[in-house]
Amino acid sequence: MTQLQGKTSPASRPTTIKPATGRLGVLTPGLGAVATTFMAGVESIRRGHAKPIGSLTQMATIRLGKRTENRSPLIKEFVPLAGLDDLVFGAWDPIPDDALTAARKAGVLDEKDLAPVADFLASIKPMPAVFDNQYVTRLHGDNVKKGKTKRDLAEQLRQDIRDFKAKHKLERLVAVWCASTEIFIKPGPQHATIDQFENAMERSDAAIAPSMLYAWACIMEGVPYCNGAPNLAVDTQALVQLANDRGVPISGKDFKTGQTWMKTVIAPGLKARMLGLAGWYSTNILGNRDGEVLDDPASFKTKEESKLSVLHTILQPEVYPELYKDFSHVVRINYYPPRGDNKEGWDNIDIFGWMGYPMQIKVNFLCRDSILAAPIVLDLAIFMDLAKRAGFRGVQEWLSFYFKSPMTAEKLYPEHDLFIQLMKLKNTLRYLKGEDLITHLGREYYD
Ligand SMILES: NC(=O)c1ccc[n+]([C@@H]2O[C@H](COP(=O)([O-])OP(=O)(O)OC[C@H]3O[C@@H](n4cnc5c(N)ncnc54)[C@H](O)[C@@H]3O)[C@@H](O)[C@H]2O)c1
Repeated sequence: MTQLQGKTSPASRPTTIKPATGRLGVLTPGLGAVATTFMAGVESIRRGHAKPIGSLTQMATIRLGKRTENRSPLIKEFVPLAGLDDLVFGAWDPIPDDALTAARKAGVLDEKDLAPVADFLASIKPMPAVFDNQYVTRLHGDNVKKGKTKRDLAEQLRQDIRDFKAKHKLERLVAVWCASTEIFIKPGPQHATIDQFENAMERSDAAIAPSMLYAWACIMEGVPYCNGAPNLAVDTQALVQLANDRGVPISGKDFKTGQTWMKTVIAPGLKARMLGLAGWYSTNILGNRDGEVLDDPASFKTKEESKLSVLHTILQPEVYPELYKDFSHVVRINYYPPRGDNKEGWDNIDIFGWMGYPMQIKVNFLCRDSILAAPIVLDLAIFMDLAKRAGFRGVQEWLSFYFKSPMTAEKLYPEHDLFIQLMKLKNTLRYLKGEDLITHLGREYYD
């Protein structure tokens, strides 16, 4: 029996998870392509017109115990999750369009899919946003809050959250940032401690971007906050501390959808086989509003930082200098209106094998960004709510699976390999329920 000890980590005691009773409000700063595709999809699924394709919370199973036990329940039957029928949507946006108008303008979904849920989408009207052109230069909208200081604006967001909760008789809330990518901001002293952050809000310091005010307001209201864009937002020492102090889960950054998702599938494969990389050139054409915002070099720099770090962390050039030292990595996003939300990406990957012989891999991905992002928004909303009910606080590393730049504890490098991330996610669910963690050792089947 001693060999059996290797198969799993011993089961932990099950965590007490509060039940998912009542309704869950899902608030999105941003009511653009991603948010409206998410909301339209959930309503279509609720009305029986579509399937939740791409969503782990709705479709994935989880193996429990040994392979011979044949226990693989659906995740949603294994842990207590909010049901789709319990979700209520709200949003903020500087553009006053309701979700139906915004979805039509975004051009992701066809009219045949929008028409059956048109009444529902038209009823979702964005609350006035905290918005400032300094941080997103290529957008203009007048559905914007006014306040003397940034602190005032953040307090107005807190009031919105309370009002929304009362109006819709909600039990709980979560927030997922689906708004535009802001300009690149380096963490400074304003983001180092809660006091310094709050003082900077009072004096409307330029280092405090709108996304940070939403994050602060949500944490203060006990609302889990998740950042779907690459901007700093909640990823600062001050806000991590605040989230820990107030027992609120946070996660980010930047939904892992098209090209980066592919990178985190292919790069672990190259490393697993000890094949070298000389260079990886990625280019995209994209014609939606996100593409337009990213056409601004300051917003693109935020995105570029998020995309570039992935390969280095997976390939570890410092550990494998003969294979990965000095590979060139170039990422381009070109705004090209005719394609709308249908992005096309080209990857040229120069690799080398036995005796240094070069080979090439070409990937041509005709992808639909918001179609890939929508189930991520759904899963994050549902898992962040689970995290809160399970008493988790601060950075939720187990949700790295969904992000291009996963937040981690300070001085810890993020895990980018999609398969390690999936294992981390599922093992966290097993841990929550006191099931053995799965190590895939497998010796016990042969003894
Ligand atoms: N689609 C994807 O695959 C994907 C992947 C990773 C990250 N993202 C990020 O998700 C975000 C949303 O993408 P999208 O395609 O829906 O973009 P979008 O331009 O269609 O929508 C963004 C919306 O945010 C609004 N907005 C801007 N600043 C705001 C503020 N301060 N408060 C509230 N609303 C604000 C805009 O008016 C717009 O309606 C972007 O930051 C994008 O980079 C998307």
